[in-house]
Formats: sequence, C-alpha cells, structure tokens
Amino acid sequence: MSHSAAVVTPLAAQKSGPLGGRVRVPGDKSISHRALIFGALTVGETRISGLLEGEDVINTGRAMRALGAQVERIGAGEWSVRGVGVGGLRAPDGVLDFGNSGTGCRLVMGAVAGCPISATFDGDASLRKRPMKRILDPITLVGARATDMAEGGRLPITLQGARDPIPVEYRTPVPSAQIKSAVLLAGLAAPGTTIVIESEASRDHTERMLMHFGADVTVTPDGTHGRKITLRGQPELRPAPVLVPADPSSAAFPLVAALLVAGSDVTLTDVMTNLLRTGLLTTLREMGATIDTANIRSEGEEMADLRARTSALRGVDVPAERAPSMIDEYPILAVAAAFAHGTTRMRGLKELRVKESDRLAAVADGLRVNGVEVEIEGDDLIVHGKGRVPGGGLVATHMDHRIAMAFLVMGLASDKPVTVDDTSFIATSFPDFMPMMRGLGAKLS
Ligand code: S3P
Repeated sequence: MSHSAAVVTPLAAQKSGPLGGRVRVPGDKSISHRALIFGALTVGETRISGLLEGEDVINTGRAMRALGAQVERIGAGEWSVRGVGVGGLRAPDGVLDFGNSGTGCRLVMGAVAGCPISATFDGDASLRKRPMKRILDPITLVGARATDMAEGGRLPITLQGARDPIPVEYRTPVPSAQIKSAVLLAGLAAPGTTIVIESEASRDHTERMLMHFGADVTVTPDGTHGRKITLRGQPELRPAPVLVPADPSSAAFPLVAALLVAGSDVTLTDVMTNLLRTGLLTTLREMGATIDTANIRSEGEEMADLRARTSALRGVDVPAERAPSMIDEYPILAVAAAFAHGTTRMRGLKELRVKESDRLAAVADGLRVNGVEVEIEGDDLIVHGKGRVPGGGLVATHMDHRIAMAFLVMGLASDKPVTVDDTSFIATSFPDFMPMMRGLGAKLS
C-alpha cells in the first residue's frame, strides 16, 4: 500500500485538561519490518504477534510477498510468514513500492543484493529524496549492481543481486542500523564470514533476530562506543515465533504529552526498553521528568510499563554519542525542551537531515512559528526553554509522521492551539495516534 498522497488533512491541537489512562501503543516499527523480512528468509512458518499494521510495515509485507514469501494476516496484529530460505527470493513482477519507509526499502535492498534476481525499488516523494548510496556502496562490494537509478543514487533504483555474493568486512560510515542490517542481510547468502563494524552502536534488532532464527552471530565491543558484528554466512534460518513489543518511538509522544499537560498521569504498557533505544528516557529523566518503570521483563527484547506524570523540566546538554539511541526522538525532545526552563543543546544531529524530512530544519521552523527561540549551530540544535510556549503557529510537516505528532503534542500544552498542515503520514507508524490521544484526554480537532 502506497500512501494516499492526495489526501492532506490538517489538524489543530489545543490546551488540554489532565491526560490520564493506561494504553499500549502499536508494535515496534523496526522489529515489525525485520520480522517480515527475516521470516521470509526462513524455511517454514513464522508467526508474528503484535505486528505494527502501519503503512510502512504493510509495504514491507507486500514487498516480501512479491519476492516469493507467503505473507498472511491472520488477525489483529497476528501474521504468518512462510519463507523461501536464505538466497531463495524470486524476481518480483512489478516495482517494489516502499512508500515513506527508508527502513523497509534499505533492508530489502540488502536482502535482494544476495540473490541472483533483479528488482526495482521506489517510494514516495520523501523517500525519493533520501540517500541510498549508503546502501549501494556496501552491497556493490558484495557483488550486487545498480543497473538503473535516479540522479545522486536516489530512488527509483533497479538492483541486480549477486549470483555469487562475496562476504565483506564493512565499517559503516555513519552509525546506522539500516546500513548495518543491509550488509548483514546481503551477507546471509554469502559463504564465509561477513563482518560489520560500527564506531557507535546502533539498534541491534537485526543481530538479535538473526540469533533468534538460529544464525551464528557474535557481537563484540569495538572502541569505546562501537561494536563488531560477525555473521557466518549461508545459515539455514529456522522459523520461530516473534512477539513485537510496543514501540518506544511511538510511546514517546503520549509520554512527553503527559509530562507537559498539567495534572497528567499516563501509563504506557509493554514498551520496549532495549538500551539502544532508551536515550530519550535517559534525557527526560536528566531534565527532571517523573517516569516510573514497572513490570520489567524480557521476551526476546526487554520491555516494561512506563508511568509518566506531569513534571517541571529543565534544560540539559544532550551528548552526541547518545544520538543513535534516540535518533527518532529529537522532534519530541525538542518540544519538551521548549517547555523546560533553560537551554537544551542537542549535539551531533547530522543524520536528522536525511530522515523522512530534514528534521533539523523542520523542528527549528515548527518551534519558531510557535514563538520558541531556537538556533541551529553546525549539527547542534539549541532550544531556549521559557517554561511555556505561546503556540498559535501552523507547522509544515514535510511528509514526516514524527514532525506531525511532535507538534500536535506541543499544542496540547501551549497557550494558543498549534496546527499541523498534514496528519495523513501519521498512519505510516502510529495509525491509532488520534483516537488513542483523544482517549487520554487530548483535544485534537
Ligand atoms: C531504523 C534505524 C534508524 C531509524 C529508523 C529505523 C531501523 O535509521 O531512524 O526509523 O529500523 O533500523 P538509521 O539506521 O538510518 O539511523
């Protein structure tokens, strides 16, 4: 399903009474994509529960079906994938359309790179702007070739996968789980050992899921913050059930809303607490947020229930090395920083420029039109918090779900309403955002 691009739906958020309740946000997007992709590379049936049924993940499911896997919805969040085995993907009949999703597109490029097939990858106007050279570079070393592409190594791209994939040792040029995952996916079909080295650890869901499906993967530290991942090629991946925990990147929106709206008390259940995803929680706690963790458990990934209550926040300095563990959370952190007392400096945000939108620019513009003092210095975002936000602005969302959700949260606590120009992209990652927020007491109209 590609995004229904023509339907642009603006929405205003206004000052709300206390937010309260206990909710489970949808399944983690990163794990949902991977469950479908890795499930398709097993031999046999993988059952997935709690799959995120957002547009991004649905597009990945369609792509895996087009590549030969049987992908079926059994019930709400319950999916079955019958795989074709490592190296067994078949050439799709049509173009693989990934809509808005960089993760789906880049990971599947890695999977196709190790198979002797040709496939064309495309996406919406946002995805067509995003860099793909970061994937083409390593998969070319594996033996794949881009036979056609738009200027600057952009989508649409036609890939010819390798007949005899070569195992590589690759150091990722930027901390990116997408690049790491694409190399590991390509390396699955190669004989011998594929190695990925990252100088800053990025989310490790691919490594965990490979182990879960029986691959021989070892992870060792590399330098102060880095990791070396070693994968033995050509494993037979065995199906295993996948339980998708709630997405911490989606939980971030109601969680910050609860901190900002007076008198609130909100619990988010089953939220994944993998330490490579919890940079936002660390930062919010440093800012003075009251967030309690309960019911901590591990089912493949660690998860817990998070209770957030209204808190007076203060500005902090967010170190660059924390960025990989909260890379998708800067828009909502910037909103929290606007309501804090004092200056928050978020360092090292270069990668934000190549997300679903240029998030550094989109966040700064959105804050400014709502009366918040903000600066961009190099790759740092600096927000001068005054304890309150005037609001009253119209925010341009640039086809970016997280920009839309972050600024709607801002409007729940600002003096005047905040309007976002287009909420339709929220369906890529959090289809129930509006009803869930309204259920907690948010005024969205
Ligand atoms: C993701 C990795 C991150 C993140 C994206 C999901 C993943 O991107 O921004 O939303 O599932 O691997 P990068 O790896 O490009 O930083």
